Amino acid sequence: MNSLKALTDSYYNVDSLEKYIDLNRISQSDPESFWSTIAERNFSWRKKWDKVLDWNKEESTVKWFEGAKLNITENCIDRHLASKGDKTAIIWESNDPTEAAQHISYKELSIRVNKMANVLKNNGAKKGDRICIYLPMIPELSVALLACARIGAIHSVVFAGFSAAAVASRINDADCKMVITSDGSYRGAKKLNLKSIVDEALENCPIVETVLVANRTNLDVEMKAGRDRWLEKELSYAEETCEAEEMDAEDPLFVLYTSGSTGKPKGMVHTTAGYMVYTAFSFKNVFQYKDGDIYWCTADIGWITGHSYILYGPLLNGATTIIFEGVPSYPDYGRFWEIIEKYKVNQFYTAPTAIRALANQDIDFVNKHDLSSLKVLGSVGEPINEEAWHWYNDNIGKKKAPIVDTWWQTETGGIMISPIPFVTPTKPTFATLPLPGIQPALMDEEGKEIQGNSTAGRLCIKFPWPSMARTVYGDHQRYIDTYFSAYKGMYFTGDGALRDEVGYYRITGRVDDVVIVSGHNLGTAPIENAINEHPAVAESAIIGFPHDIKGNALAGFIILKDETRNPENLQKEINNLISSSIGPIAKLDRIHFVSGLPKTRSGKIMRRILRKVSSNEMENLGDTSTLLDPSIVDEIIEKVKEVL
Ligand code: PRX
Repeated sequence: MNSLKALTDSYYNVDSLEKYIDLNRISQSDPESFWSTIAERNFSWRKKWDKVLDWNKEESTVKWFEGAKLNITENCIDRHLASKGDKTAIIWESNDPTEAAQHISYKELSIRVNKMANVLKNNGAKKGDRICIYLPMIPELSVALLACARIGAIHSVVFAGFSAAAVASRINDADCKMVITSDGSYRGAKKLNLKSIVDEALENCPIVETVLVANRTNLDVEMKAGRDRWLEKELSYAEETCEAEEMDAEDPLFVLYTSGSTGKPKGMVHTTAGYMVYTAFSFKNVFQYKDGDIYWCTADIGWITGHSYILYGPLLNGATTIIFEGVPSYPDYGRFWEIIEKYKVNQFYTAPTAIRALANQDIDFVNKHDLSSLKVLGSVGEPINEEAWHWYNDNIGKKKAPIVDTWWQTETGGIMISPIPFVTPTKPTFATLPLPGIQPALMDEEGKEIQGNSTAGRLCIKFPWPSMARTVYGDHQRYIDTYFSAYKGMYFTGDGALRDEVGYYRITGRVDDVVIVSGHNLGTAPIENAINEHPAVAESAIIGFPHDIKGNALAGFIILKDETRNPENLQKEINNLISSSIGPIAKLDRIHFVSGLPKTRSGKIMRRILRKVSSNEMENLGDTSTLLDPSIVDEIIEKVKEVL
């Protein structure tokens, strides 16, 4: 058995099962030495920490590396300049395959980030300010995040598919003074006018003083005098160097919104040092990235996967990371495979929804391309079903590239449970084992930890890890209520999981009212709120049901006030309402107009029944005797059968 000391030098890269077992043991018996060793050896600090971990269980506050001073961009960029200045940091691939790609070296990235940082400062941004970023997947998006981090401003990226109302609520929640956007965006054959969405949002955001607009599509947009500025023009006179702001370890790096099961989205706050240490460490190990490899994650930077594993994790490791502006189906369903061949991608990280959609196409789209460069395949965002797992393994990895089924969340900041390729034997549909430093637990409904293997329960994490979200922006009580109240002193993930006979974890899905649709986390309550605003609607209940491609799709059970309306028109109007209040991703696949909902005597909707009926499990509805009106179930079954 290796001692902590003996492992120290090679700590960072877990490249054998023996080492995994040792590190896992050490990280649990002495987490502080474990993380401080990793932090000390692999990053550049302006000042080291005074205390590794300060954990106040009563108040649910966690601080890592307190007292340390740093700037994450010095770790992502500056420290690589001497040895890797000319190495490509970012390869940008356009939506349009005929448009030239950009190969941005670390040196060039440094200049672009510094210039953008100066633009932010010239426009009044300073340390601690929140800046909303609403951009398509163009290089300016990654440059904007890093520029915020350079000056200590807190970025709040909003996925550029969200509606004006969703953008406005996120801007207002975080009090953003500045917005960075573009005139428009390309998504496959579509051209979207992002600036007009921002303009609409800003009608309800009086605090925003400045909007910086990148030119991507040459759209004719309205520029509001005194507020809106073209980014290119601002950049043209910005200086090329900008001293990095000195940040405390626990200074917020960013806010990123995630849906909750109730109410408005939660702005998860991630802080500087812990996020840096954990995303770098997990990227290195989960992808076994070696110098010279080309890494590609197909997520959007608007989601946590993009933050941690397109941008920060790869750059912290001096990697080459691909940013792809387009979609898997444009100009045809071979686009992903074409890009892998074009750049000889070594690690490829995508979502089960994309895998399922691509597996449904002619296999020639795959077989036309040389995919032999692939060493590791990743999956993230939702459970990967067995069929998709095998298709990915057989046709893309040719059974030679291990699949890392990575389980994690916006809240966890980094990958928590995942195989380490070439170290952990994989098993279809299993995320397998926790990374070193992560202590999962399965809990029963009485709040007791379930010991032993071959069991199932609710997934919690017992001990803090460096990249955990520290709070919900502006609402620490909501953070406590959502994550630390169900099981005292433990982080509750909201997911159910099972542990097999050897201790491998398989995530079975959400146990709350969040539905993962095409890998996107959607709370049902905000969708219901949107629908209930329709004048013809009295009440609604939204649930998720299994869908071949999307993993889950949404169904709405709606009671009408006005039953004289044409149902088809109503369905369209309801989906349009959802689209404009949240975004097209939250649209309902099925809408059932019903005369009642299955409610308990205390008025609670038994969504379990709606879920089972929608999943065609009519025979297995469980106890319905506590319902106020059990006869409503028959009506619901009839309505659902009409569309099955
Ligand atoms: O239910 C789990 C599911 O996605 C949720 C987190 O969503 P989000 O915060 O948007 O982050 C997605 C990207 C990290 C989880 O609570 N999920 C994520 N990865 C997996 C997964 N479910 C099963 N298997 C996974 N590998």
